[in-house]
Amino acid sequence: MDWSFIFPIAASEIARSWDTLNVFLLVICVFFFLVVIGPMVFFAIRYRFKPNRKVSTVSHNFTLEVIWTAIPTIILMVIFWWGWVVYRQMTFDLPQNHKQVRVVAKSWSWTFQYEDGRTTTNQLFVPVDTPVRLIMTSEINDVLHSFFVPNLRIKKDLVPGLYTNIWFKPEIVGQYQIFCTEYCGAGHSEMLGKLIVLSKEDYELWTWGKEIELPPAVGVGAIPQPPGLVAKAPSSSKKEETGIQVAMLGDAELPSMSLVEQGEALAASRGCVACHSSEDRPGIGPSYVGLFGREVELADGTTVIADENYIRESIENPHAKIVKGYENVLMPPYPGLLTELELNALMAYLKSLEN
Ligand code: CUA
Repeated sequence: MDWSFIFPIAASEIARSWDTLNVFLLVICVFFFLVVIGPMVFFAIRYRFKPNRKVSTVSHNFTLEVIWTAIPTIILMVIFWWGWVVYRQMTFDLPQNHKQVRVVAKSWSWTFQYEDGRTTTNQLFVPVDTPVRLIMTSEINDVLHSFFVPNLRIKKDLVPGLYTNIWFKPEIVGQYQIFCTEYCGAGHSEMLGKLIVLSKEDYELWTWGKEIELPPAVGVGAIPQPPGLVAKAPSSSKKEETGIQVAMLGDAELPSMSLVEQGEALAASRGCVACHSSEDRPGIGPSYVGLFGREVELADGTTVIADENYIRESIENPHAKIVKGYENVLMPPYPGLLTELELNALMAYLKSLEN
């Protein structure tokens, strides 16, 4: 249901689901406030102290105690179940045809890394009516941050060394406020960003590096923009410069390779491919092909899903989980040798090799 008359504009279906739950909680709270406080006030007056008033002693009432235990328990279970249903929808029920954007937080800015290889800072560009998955982390030596867009009612922590996920499908074109909502030091209150939801046509133009007019601000933090403000996407068209330096990674101006291509270049330049084949054959280490998302059998008999967090651990601490059938050879650990943006590019490359 749409509750925009009492809450900030809800720009997605999940936002409306949260609002409905919120209204349910509010109604329950008001109801029990009246049920508890009303009689309390009445009794306080009706049975107030008077000299010579005799009071009967009531030690307990079994029926009453069962009722006031059972009913709140049931209500709490309903609240838990309802919250879980919407949380699951927001976190896991990701539609197949989604876009992916990788987010790296640091004190005190947001970096967004797109599949076509571009990065933007503090501005997240997405097309309207399209599911977008955010794969988020914080710089390794940084602190916790939390990504919050009030008008989408989504909020998720970004943790150094860990990847967290969230997705949304914005329904209204406009600019929305992004907050950091976890206290992260002196600049916390200025760790702001804009989610810029473009019409599909404008998004297409943006991806081609054309100038577009920014949509109006919507909802929370909607400070009127000066008219005619123009956003120009960093161009990513020049594919002929194949000899690009990996140092170009993260440079918002001119990434000439897609994220997957950047990852492939990294796997070559950092020597990964010497042991890990990008064809479907085992080397000294396991092949990359079909790795991502697969259930991996480990030497100790346990299994693990090869997601971002597993792959990151295997890069930074190669001896933590040894794949069944492989020796615990001396792969050099890579903590700190790859930037967050480079790790993201590698992940995207591995993901592109999933079968
Ligand atoms: Cu980042 Cu608060």
